[in-house]
This record gives sequence, structure tokens and C-alpha cells, in this order.
Amino acid sequence: MAYNLLKGKKGIIFGALDEKSIAWKTAQRCKAEGAELVLTNAPIALRMGTINKLAEEVNAPVIPADVTSEADVTNLFEKTMEHFNGGVDFVLHSIGMSINVRKNIPYTENNLEFTHKGLDISAVSLHRVLQAAMKLDAINEWGSVVALTYIAAQRVFPNYNDMADGKAMLESIARNFGYYYGVQKKVRVNTISQSPTLTTAGSGVKGIDGFINFAEKMSPLGNANADNCADYCVTMFSDLTKMVTMQNLFHDGGFSYTGVTPEVIESMSKE
Ligand code: NAI
Repeated sequence: MAYNLLKGKKGIIFGALDEKSIAWKTAQRCKAEGAELVLTNAPIALRMGTINKLAEEVNAPVIPADVTSEADVTNLFEKTMEHFNGGVDFVLHSIGMSINVRKNIPYTENNLEFTHKGLDISAVSLHRVLQAAMKLDAINEWGSVVALTYIAAQRVFPNYNDMADGKAMLESIARNFGYYYGVQKKVRVNTISQSPTLTTAGSGVKGIDGFINFAEKMSPLGNANADNCADYCVTMFSDLTKMVTMQNLFHDGGFSYTGVTPEVIESMSKE
């Protein structure tokens, strides 16, 4: 069901790789709520993924940008402003990557070159995006920026590896940049801390299936899926959440505040 929550709004969606991507579902929901979109992803992801199918469906141009490149990110905002003949009202940062996770390198033995690259893609990129946007005045007043994160930023989930450090940094950048952008232009910046979700990035985490089941049993409402996350992003882009900024917002069916549940205790107790 659509409510026209984003009627007249324009936005950039980073990170739609395939139909499972949270960004993909968010683009579809934003379109259904009346928004006009620009889609972007890394050039290599554009070659490997199926983003053109989404672009057709939501009637949006695709502008390549590797988020580790300042030139690419600047070009993305310039082209987007040309396309819309003005600034945007919302940005979704839905980007994460760890080479250590991908190569199965344990946290205590991380290749720190890989760590560096992973932090650049997964966390510093939010600063790069916000800095480029601010310089070009590319986000309209009361605009809303959302980045996706995970609770491993606050608590240890061993298989999440160095992505945990990336998420902690991402949340910190959202808070700090949110302060400055709020003062300067009433632009708000938040992170949404999503339940574990079976996507390409999610599947990279070792033992993700067991982990998803555990989280499901530990959440009073069950796990939030990618469609639920897309709905939450829409509300954050809408004017109904105008005064929310610099927050890390848990979207996890109650997982983050649950100590233990009968189901988990039962699975642990011996007969
Ligand atoms: P996904 O694999 O569909 O999306 C990750 C995206 O990052 C891909 O589109 C990929 O091309 C893009 N990306 C990687 N390197 C890039 C670069 N250099 N420049 C530009 N884009 C680049 O997976 P998913 O799950 O939709 O991930 C989206 C966000 O949600 C990520 O930040 C992830 O950490 C976060 N998240 C995911 C959870 C999960 O369990 N799947 C749980 C909580 C947060």
C-alpha cells in the first residue's frame, strides 16, 4: 500500500546490486511513494549485477560511482543535479564490503591493507558522500540521509570480523556529520541498524543461516526483512520524521533490547 509519502521528492540510491539488495527494495518502495530516483553503484557491480532491470522499473538513470573515489562521487552529484535540475531530498547509503570477510581471514589475523580498504568502502565513504554533497550544496533543506548498519558496532558478533569496526565508524560519521549538516542546512543523517538479512553482502558472513535463526528466536517480533527495511527507509526520507537526526535506529524486531528468550533457553538446556 502506498501513501504518497515521498511525492515530489528526489533521491539517490547507492548499493542496489540485485533483487535481494536492501537498496533494490528501497528503490522500489521510494518509487511507489512518489519519489524520482537516480541509482548508483560501483562500475564493477554495474557490470556484474542486474541494476538496469531496476532502472527500467523505477524509471531512473544509473550513474556509476566507486565510493572510494572523490572524483566519482563528485561527478555523481553533479550529474544528478543536472538531471533533476536542482538538489536531492534524500540519499540512501547501502554499501558494505570487507575483503577479510570475503577471504575468510580471522579478525585477529586480519590483513590490515584489506582492513583499510574495507573501512574506506564501508564507512569513510559516508563522509566522502556527505562532504561532496555539502560542497556542491546538493542536498535540499530538511533532506534526509540514511546509511545501513549492524549491531556488531555495539556488541561482539565474532564472524562479523572487521565489518564491526567499519559499522562503528559509519555510525560515528553519521552522528558527527549529522551535527554539522543539521546546523548548516537542516539536513539530517541517521543510521538504520538492520536485522541479519540474506543478501549478497549478508551471505558473506560465515554461518549466516544459523545466525539468522538465532536472531529470529531472539527477537520478539522476529527478524526484520529487506522489505520491512525499505519501509523504514521511506519513513526516514519522509517529512514525518523531520526532527530525527544523528541517531542509530534499531530495526530488528526487538533483538537489540532482548536479553534472552524461552526458545533460546530451550535450545540450550540438556534433557
Ligand atoms: P548487497 O551486497 O546487496 O549490497 C552491498 C552493496 O555495496 C552492493 O551493491 C555493492 O556493489 C556495493 N559496493 C561495494 N563496494 C562498493 C564501492 N567501492 N562503491 C560503491 N558501491 C559499492 O547487500 P545488502 O545486505 O543489501 O547491504 C546493504 C547494506 O546493508 C550494507 O551496508 C550492509 O552492511 C548493511 N546491512 C546488511 C545486513 C545483512 O544482513 N544483509 C544487516 C545489517 C546491515
